[in-house]
Amino acid sequence: MGYLDAGGGRRAPASPVYLDHAATTPMLPEAIEAMTEELAELGNPSSLHNAGRRARRVVEESREQIAAAYGARPSEVIFTSGGTEADNLAVKGLFWARRAADPARRRVLTAPIEHHAVLDSVGWLQHHEGAEVGRPALDDVGKIGPEALREAIETDPGAVALVSIMWANNEVGTIQPITELTGVAREYRIPFHSDAVQAAGQLPVSLADSGAAALTVTAHKIGGPVGAGALLLARGTDLVPVLHGGGQERDVRSGTLDAPAIRAFAVAVEIATARRADETKRVAGLRDDLIAQVLAAVPDAARPACALVAAPTRSPFRICFCRPAGAGVAWKTPHPAVNVAVSTAAAPSAARARAGNAASPATRASPARLANPARPADRERFSANSSTGFPLMAFFLTELE
Ligand SMILES: Cc1ncc(COP(=O)(O)O)c(C=O)c1O
Repeated sequence: MGYLDAGGGRRAPASPVYLDHAATTPMLPEAIEAMTEELAELGNPSSLHNAGRRARRVVEESREQIAAAYGARPSEVIFTSGGTEADNLAVKGLFWARRAADPARRRVLTAPIEHHAVLDSVGWLQHHEGAEVGRPALDDVGKIGPEALREAIETDPGAVALVSIMWANNEVGTIQPITELTGVAREYRIPFHSDAVQAAGQLPVSLADSGAAALTVTAHKIGGPVGAGALLLARGTDLVPVLHGGGQERDVRSGTLDAPAIRAFAVAVEIATARRADETKRVAGLRDDLIAQVLAAVPDAARPACALVAAPTRSPFRICFCRPAGAGVAWKTPHPAVNVAVSTAAAPSAARARAGNAASPATRASPARLANPARPADRERFSANSSTGFPLMAFFLTELE
């Protein structure tokens, strides 16, 4: 497969190359069909008349499908407007509930590699609610071992409100040892939240088996629509709501349920789950092929012009490269002639950069940071988002010193 010409020159592929499935995926035709069908129907799932009951049935069947795919009970699925809302609900809701039970609990243990939805929720708690932040040590590919978490808890176990550590990283693809981490948190009876947005549908994700108190999932990373997600909340976990209103979701989340999007979400989850094993094998092969070709194609062969950053346990759907400064690789900005969608950061960081806020916490959580935690994070970084045949793959290049 010719992703790049052999000598390092790039060619424009016949079809557009899209390698940004970590930002969002195309909707599956089956999900579009289900959503379109449901959009034509009338009824608020909370209404007691026939139209409402029909919509309620759709929501509850979808809830059962999603619960079954993610190792949860139906009652443990709290529908939200996506991953961001679910992360906010988990982080703030668990914090408030734990602090209400014991005012000494004000520490949130989390990592700088988290998505903004977690990073900024924690930051908000810090600035407005007196939260303190503890950071378990990361290794050089962004992994947190159980001993690192234990050490962070041991600083002051009685002060920890919650732990929030993502399941799989959206940029580097590092997979955290979630069951080992939840095991440590459970010893101290500390609720553990994991943002599983980049893992669900791609890796086996089960609320019950993970031992987590809460998991965040979303639809648009697995062929579902943008604007539908869920917090999987283990039974018996106390959580203070963020949104107040009709109390539609067990009083934990208010807002009229979006039956069409929820239906499409369930369809996408079912298909992703059914195809996961085959897709993992197929995409891992494509990933390895692409890595080999990129490394072979980099012209400055005398120097380590293109260093692969890879954890031994990483998602098959992610690639991350680091480019040493001055290595002579001409990858800088997207060029329309290459027909490859390219951005300079993960989607939220790119959005912030556009808004003139590039020096945000996300910048500190960049792959450059992961590859070289001791170095400043102000180096060039690049993410090529590419194509047909590479579902759910993100591709980053970061300049190193
Ligand atoms: C790891 C992670 N968490 C949360 C989100 C936010 O999800 P949503 O776009 O559904 O709000 C994303 C999306 O980029 C993500 O990659």
